[in-house]
Amino acid sequence: MKGRFVTPGKTFEAVDPRTGEVITRVAEGDTEDIDLAVKAARHAFDHGPWPRLSGFERGRIMMKLADLIEENIEEIAALDTINGGKLFAHGQVLDVPGAARTLRYFAGAADKIHGTVLKLSKGLQGYTLREPIGVVGHIIPWNFPTILFFTKVAPALAAGCTMVVKPAEQTPLSALYYAHLAKLAGMPDGVINVVNGFGETAGAAISAHMDIDKVSFTGSTEVGRKIMAAAAASNLKPVSLELGGKSPLLIFDDADINEAVNIVFGGMFFNKGEICVASSRVYVQEGIYEKFENKLVEKAKSWVVGDPFDPRVHQGPQVDKKQFEKILSYIEHGKREGATLLTGGKRVGQKGYYIEPTIFADVKDDMIIAKEEIFGPVMSLMKFKTMEEAIKRANNTTYGLAAGIITKDLNVANTVSRSIRAGIIWINCYTALDVDCPFGGYKMSGFGRDCGLEALNQYHQIKSVVTPIRDSPWH
Ligand code: NAI
Ligand code: MG
Repeated sequence: MKGRFVTPGKTFEAVDPRTGEVITRVAEGDTEDIDLAVKAARHAFDHGPWPRLSGFERGRIMMKLADLIEENIEEIAALDTINGGKLFAHGQVLDVPGAARTLRYFAGAADKIHGTVLKLSKGLQGYTLREPIGVVGHIIPWNFPTILFFTKVAPALAAGCTMVVKPAEQTPLSALYYAHLAKLAGMPDGVINVVNGFGETAGAAISAHMDIDKVSFTGSTEVGRKIMAAAAASNLKPVSLELGGKSPLLIFDDADINEAVNIVFGGMFFNKGEICVASSRVYVQEGIYEKFENKLVEKAKSWVVGDPFDPRVHQGPQVDKKQFEKILSYIEHGKREGATLLTGGKRVGQKGYYIEPTIFADVKDDMIIAKEEIFGPVMSLMKFKTMEEAIKRANNTTYGLAAGIITKDLNVANTVSRSIRAGIIWINCYTALDVDCPFGGYKMSGFGRDCGLEALNQYHQIKSVVTPIRDSPWH
């Protein structure tokens, strides 16, 4: 059963969000399939070559996989476009090359994993070993099916772990392609096991499994809680959680308005607002508020929503009917609560899950649209007077994933950066990220860091080895 595709009895539909039509049916894994995958991963960890290879050899296979991904950029980008509604052009230049880059970054780290020497007191000599944590369960969402697959898988591979990966049920296709490419790259059997299926069944089976040593999750705060509870109730496996956000972006009076409009637009409407760091709460200082609002609305009019394969399009369809309906219902909430709809608010066309870029003004901090993660193209615009007020309101959230500041004043930028409780702060930019930048949340946005060398730590155990120094006076 290891090293090949198997077909469980059940299947589910993979849907094209451009039309709502079924693309194909995909094998649906359930508890027993997760169990089989864990057995394969456990065997590969306990007896297989992967954790025993030198870091250099592991890195070589990962590099080969990165090459294969790059050789198939168009095909992979197309899978995430037909299945996830993501812009094909972005897939070609961002997501798929980003996946290869992530693999290469961690491949390069695989032979640089060292412990430390401990000069212990009491005449003892010691050192630490960084050992792979074991079998990892990765549960990933649908908004970045390719980037997030490798953000999770690459550091775990470099560390020497074996793994079970459960992609989101909305976007099962590209992950199957990665399983295929991993085999071609020479990845030993049982190291990467991809099981598609639903959260309540396959996902839950991962978090409760007694033979999985760690779970890494990206998704909703609600499911993050469930995963932690299941881990606590089973084998106390550590978990890392990258959850939702309601990230503030503060624009000060001295900002270049045109530049700020572009940053804000990208921060909110990139990937159709289906991004955990989306700048969904925009606070603008009163001196430039009116001008900023006008330019923002103007920009919205030039934003093209449509088929994500069309290179002129800026925004494709939301991932599925459920998200589409959820976003439209938040828009209704916003209207009902008394916010002013500046632009957008409606679906686009009669087919598929397209929504106009939507901007609300006169939003109060306690309105639902200002508090809850909408995960779609809906922005709340607010006005502030002083930096102190802006900091206070920015922090007035249960989340703490990201924040942005637009100003020319270094002192303001530095003060605000230190005052906001969030895992990443962008100054005069937004969503600027690379694989070597640690990424994760404060507060209810989760804990643990993906990316950067910090990510490797999540997949290691630290073992201390201690021995007495024989002739020491302490002994
Ligand atoms: P979700 O959190 O339910 O799904 C994410 C992943 O978790 C999927 O692979 C899913 O199958 C799995 N899952 C679901 N229930 C599970 C369970 N009980 N045990 C283990 N795994 C489980 O997110 P969903 O329902 O797709 O979206 C709901 C909201 O979550 C979105 O509107 C958005 O606000 C947020 N979200 C945040 C993401 C982020 O990047 N931080 C990504 C996706 C969703
Ligand atoms: Mg869910």
